[in-house]
Amino acid sequence: MNFNCLRHDQENSNCPSTAEREKRRGTQKLCYIFVRMQAIQVKSSLGNYEVRCASGALAHAGRLIAGLGETTGTFVLSSPRVWRYWGRAVMKNVSGAAPRPILFDDAEAAKRLSTVERIARELVRAGADRHATLVAVGGGVVGDVAGFAAASYLRGVRVVHIPTTLVAQVDSSIGGKTGVNLPEGKNLVGAFYAPKLVIVDPRTLGTLPHREFRSGVYEVVKYGAIADAVLFKFLEEHMREVLRRDAEALAFIIGRSIAIKARVVNQDERESGLRQILNFGHTLGHALEAATNYRRFLHGEAIGWGMIAVALMGLATERIPLMDAFRIVRLTASVGPLPSVPEIPAAELQRIMLGDKKARGGRVLWVMPSRIGKTEWGIEVPRALVTKTVASLAEVMAEARSTPVVENAARAAMRKRRR
Ligand SMILES: NC(=O)c1ccc[n+]([C@@H]2O[C@H](COP(=O)([O-])OP(=O)(O)OC[C@H]3O[C@@H](n4cnc5c(N)ncnc54)[C@H](O)[C@@H]3O)[C@@H](O)[C@H]2O)c1
Ligand SMILES: [Zn+2]
Repeated sequence: MNFNCLRHDQENSNCPSTAEREKRRGTQKLCYIFVRMQAIQVKSSLGNYEVRCASGALAHAGRLIAGLGETTGTFVLSSPRVWRYWGRAVMKNVSGAAPRPILFDDAEAAKRLSTVERIARELVRAGADRHATLVAVGGGVVGDVAGFAAASYLRGVRVVHIPTTLVAQVDSSIGGKTGVNLPEGKNLVGAFYAPKLVIVDPRTLGTLPHREFRSGVYEVVKYGAIADAVLFKFLEEHMREVLRRDAEALAFIIGRSIAIKARVVNQDERESGLRQILNFGHTLGHALEAATNYRRFLHGEAIGWGMIAVALMGLATERIPLMDAFRIVRLTASVGPLPSVPEIPAAELQRIMLGDKKARGGRVLWVMPSRIGKTEWGIEVPRALVTKTVASLAEVMAEARSTPVVENAARAAMRKRRR
């Protein structure tokens, strides 16, 4: 399998048929040109929208935004850091935008109501009315805050997302979840508010710090594990190119991930069922983040541990076939080193997981692939097994990184089963 044939497997691509391609010379290049602007449709109760994805898509932002129809003013929202890298390109391409962007701190600690108030007041002063368009340029923090500001300013104005982190491109900019944190917890105030358009340009990832980039790769691994065996296999075969941020590899994994998120959200916008599969790795991942005060792990790294733990628990409960569990552990480990898991008392872990939104009536429910590409949710796992698995994570990872992980994870799982 190579990039070329995989690319033809993409949905929504305008690739010529195989026969047609064979008639052409240099099909690889031509094909790449044909698929370069993907348009993925997302359904929402507030109106459907498109995700346009292509390397270089930013250059088309003005035309794409103009295609949404008339507006009384376009206001760009971003963070000082993102603006330093991408401000000039955004101002060049988003024609008709107000000359001064509204910049706000995108540290997680600044994702709070007072930032939304500041944005709203700046919008009033800049003369934004009900027919204004907000353009959010940045990672998940910028998108969540700007999305919530758009949902509440004058009871709702149009918002366009231009996500600039891998997490934001494959996850947070799609699906309409917006919001801010309270001192009591993350994302506790918010709204479902669909954008009118999402413009994804993988080139903007070129300036992302490597650890942030890798953090997003764990979410892509998640998409492969839960819903896309082809994506999963691609990651197994091309992780090196992905980590090098090879343009073709990025275009493939991002397009594929967006298509999965869109498909899931299209069926379950409000997370009453299927959308829960997107939480694979998140039950434990969120608990690890909370137990370490959001300082030790980037979100994706915590999800990496979460996925490894679920794969091992699936193996122990015979819900995941041996080989599939091993492949999940191996692929996750191949993204890079994960910060170690500190000792967390079992009772504390349980308490945090019960506070998680996925817990129901005093039970912690897990999302678990039954094989790569197919996933179930609402699964209970014996508490003792959770505790034992979390305690064994460091050992599994140490083994995974020194010798072939498949054999070692197998041995570890077998040992555990025998006990
Ligand atoms: N709404 C959703 O469905 C959803 C889904 C997942 C995550 N989230 C939220 O997203 C947030 C995390 O978002 P994130 O992972 O994108 O990180 P982030 O927004 O915190 O950005 C990470 C860092 O990268 C910088 N940055 C962003 N783009 C850059 C670029 N192109 N070049 C250089 N630096 C760049 C930012 O300034 C920041 O310092 C969390 O608050 C999380 O709750 C929301
Ligand atoms: Zn996540």
